Amino acid sequence: MCGIVGYVGNKSPKDVLLEGLKKLEYRGYDSAGVAILNGDRFDVYRAEGKLSALSEKLAPVRFSGRIGIGHTRWATHGMPTEFNAHPHKVKGISLVQNGIIENYAELKEELLEKGVKFSSETDTEVVAHLIALQMDDSHDLVAAIQSVIPKLRGAYAMLVVSESEPETIVAFKAGPPLILGVGEGEILLASDVQAFIDHTNKAVYLDDFEIVKVKGAHYEVFSLDGITLKKPVVALDLASEKSDKKGFKHYMLKEIYEQPRAVANALTPYVDIENKRLSFDSLGMQGAPTPKEHLQALANCKRIYIVACGTSFYAGLYGKYLIEPIAGVAVDVDIASEFRYRDPVLEKNAVAIFVSQSGETADTLAALRLAKEKGLTCLSICNTKASTIDREADLHLYMNSGLEVGVASTKAFISTLSLFNLLALYLAQSKDLLTEEEETRLVDGLLALPSLMEACLAYDTYFKEAAQELTNYKGFLYLGRGHSYPIALEGALKLKELAYRHAEGYAAGEMKHGPLALIDQGMLIIVICPRDKFYEKTVSNLEEAKARGGVVFSIGSGDDKQLKSISKHYLGIPEAPWMTSGILSVIPVQLLAYHLADALGHDVDQPRNLAKSVTVE
Ligand code: AGP
Repeated sequence: MCGIVGYVGNKSPKDVLLEGLKKLEYRGYDSAGVAILNGDRFDVYRAEGKLSALSEKLAPVRFSGRIGIGHTRWATHGMPTEFNAHPHKVKGISLVQNGIIENYAELKEELLEKGVKFSSETDTEVVAHLIALQMDDSHDLVAAIQSVIPKLRGAYAMLVVSESEPETIVAFKAGPPLILGVGEGEILLASDVQAFIDHTNKAVYLDDFEIVKVKGAHYEVFSLDGITLKKPVVALDLASEKSDKKGFKHYMLKEIYEQPRAVANALTPYVDIENKRLSFDSLGMQGAPTPKEHLQALANCKRIYIVACGTSFYAGLYGKYLIEPIAGVAVDVDIASEFRYRDPVLEKNAVAIFVSQSGETADTLAALRLAKEKGLTCLSICNTKASTIDREADLHLYMNSGLEVGVASTKAFISTLSLFNLLALYLAQSKDLLTEEEETRLVDGLLALPSLMEACLAYDTYFKEAAQELTNYKGFLYLGRGHSYPIALEGALKLKELAYRHAEGYAAGEMKHGPLALIDQGMLIIVICPRDKFYEKTVSNLEEAKARGGVVFSIGSGDDKQLKSISKHYLGIPEAPWMTSGILSVIPVQLLAYHLADALGHDVDQPRNLAKSVTVE
């Protein structure tokens, strides 16, 4: 994944790059580095570990130049060590990459045969060598890059500087995002506008296989074959998103507490609050007019494909459990990395929905492009405005959760669930399946969610106290039926990514088809069992597990004596209508994973091996 940032201007490149990298740390945090002009050399500094290690290393260093590039890494090829950290410098060429060169082994072999020596295990160093070799012939950085790009296979965005052209950064991309920020007398380049929004709101979005040459305060964009391109400069209506723990121990805990507000922010733009009616007229991008033909396609659709990854995929699965019974529209839910490669047969007049907090997930983006190619109307549900998925979709629902820093997604998930509630109602309304009274009653129920969620936050103390005991379990089985099943899957994912313990989410009815064999005293069975139409069946499944020595932790509705009697631990969420009970049960499973991870002493906000935005396959 990784984050890259480049700067040319009059400010201190060290400060601008470090600030930018801080904003990009969500993309990778196992090592970081910069190359900054100092006299006639680009000096490279790299450090293993979090960005703070690099900042400490750079604290006493002064650079005379006003140009530099930086990188924060999520290792793909080679361990997260200092020698594998970017930038990679070969002769006078320094280079940073966000992405993967898939044919790097083959390219490396050819270079080794030519006698080239490598100092890292990365795919990126191969590109630095290729450009350096090409420079021996062309002596021109853009020309050298133009002849190297056709040799590369993969998905990448790169920034390159050369000591032979010390006032210049050349950047290019094929896949991951790369945006140019055009400031007053300065130019910035980054993987995400947040890395430069404090300096300028004027942005140029680069497209794949375009090359930009930045020299001083000027830039020029070329096609691969050297034709100069005129690119639109977009004035971004985005504020700098400041991260602040606001007194909480971790961002994740703060974000869990922000969920009632996040749900209110997600619902408000699509609801006529006064009349408690749906208001789906503004599905354009960031307030732009709604493309009517696409809105029509959504209103009339008979099949929906929801495509996403990880937590967003589970949110999509929850969407299926709502849309099918409420609106009678068939819904297929796919993991993006499978969807894009399985040659899906897509019905004409269907609508495809892509869920992504970051709006940059590589597989989800590729799936969106595939659906567009096949002529489907594409609706994005994103948190990050102006992200690639947001920009490429036809219709847009926004999570409006605000900046989510914790790598484990919380408020974006819960906001998406509430948007699926609304969408299910909108589709039912478009198909005349909803009377005005029902619409008002159900919208009113959704608007009541934030205050019910506030009540669930009280479980924070409960899990804080229970956490130590929970560390005794070696495994965790999450069970649910109906719309509690995706919540069970999400609960298991949260536990895996934060506590590094084995956890599985299962449809409760599947237990007897295999997972029952896992039951012993070391396995905690966490069941999400609100009083809905599945209640009795789920309770029977629990009894079966209990009869085999299973230890049960149940999350039910209110003061449920029956559930209590079969559970070692019991938590009652507020009694709520079926449509909203699912959302309420998310909070306890998040808090459980958070406190268990904290009790185990793990880095909750930046769990090992992960990154927030997954821009590689
Ligand atoms: C969630 O806790 C995960 N870190 C991860 O599964 C995430 O939801 C997934 O990578 C998808 O990201 P997106 O929503 O930004 O597309």
